[in-house]
Amino acid sequence: MKSEVLFDDGTHKWVVLGRDPDKKEEIIDTNEYLIVSEEQAVILDPGGIEVFPQVLTEVTRHVSTDKIQAIVASHQDPDIASSLSMWLGLSPNIKVYCPWVWTTFIAHFGLGVDLNLTGVPDEGIELTIGSTQNNLYLVPAHYCHSSGNFSVYDPKADILFSGDIGVGLVPADTSLFVDDFDKHIKYMEKFHLRWMPSSAALKAWVKRVRLINPSMICPQHGSIFRGDDVKRLLDWLDGLDVGKWDMGLEATDVNKSQWMKWKKR
Ligand SMILES: [Fe+2]
Ligand SMILES: [Fe+2]
Repeated sequence: MKSEVLFDDGTHKWVVLGRDPDKKEEIIDTNEYLIVSEEQAVILDPGGIEVFPQVLTEVTRHVSTDKIQAIVASHQDPDIASSLSMWLGLSPNIKVYCPWVWTTFIAHFGLGVDLNLTGVPDEGIELTIGSTQNNLYLVPAHYCHSSGNFSVYDPKADILFSGDIGVGLVPADTSLFVDDFDKHIKYMEKFHLRWMPSSAALKAWVKRVRLINPSMICPQHGSIFRGDDVKRLLDWLDGLDVGKWDMGLEATDVNKSQWMKWKKR
């Protein structure tokens, strides 16, 4: 697994972990993000059980596990949060923040470990990293794609972690940063049309993020947007008509004789 520093002012650092060359073919590639602020750390979307050993190895290159104060799970998916019991098994004092609607679902990843979950209210919260003054903001991103979902904004680094928004299903050798937005669209299009259920929710998120105006948008899969590509991404998302991937499948598309056969059983 590779890691790359996205921001570092000497006391506050963002690291992306991803593009794991040893990952099994059938597992979707994920980006995990580590924030180390005055030696206290937060992990954003720590990933699934399958990638836990690789993520742990990379994290410990930057900070020891006893410094991890918190984990944020943007939503409930296994590629986001199924490793939680491993992290809490290592360091039981880690606080895990997730959307309140998913607390009792994410608890299924517990494997006998108390996951120390805090349900985040729909309007979001301000999160303090340990004793530092470098607070993070959990920004509502509901229905993009999950019905309870948050992005995370860090004013100090001016980076927005967008979870599954802006995701690209890219080949393994794709660069960590988007270098040609127009060519990158083909990696994003299918994911957004199929996994995003609501254009209204997506537009509301874009509006929110335009106000924040971050210098970088970091998704949980694919490549990172910076510079002019931040605006290009927001404009592209704003114009998307999502949640209709299967709308062409009318009832008449279903083979009638097949239906009748099932019905007779
Ligand atoms: Fe997801
Ligand atoms: Fe995801």
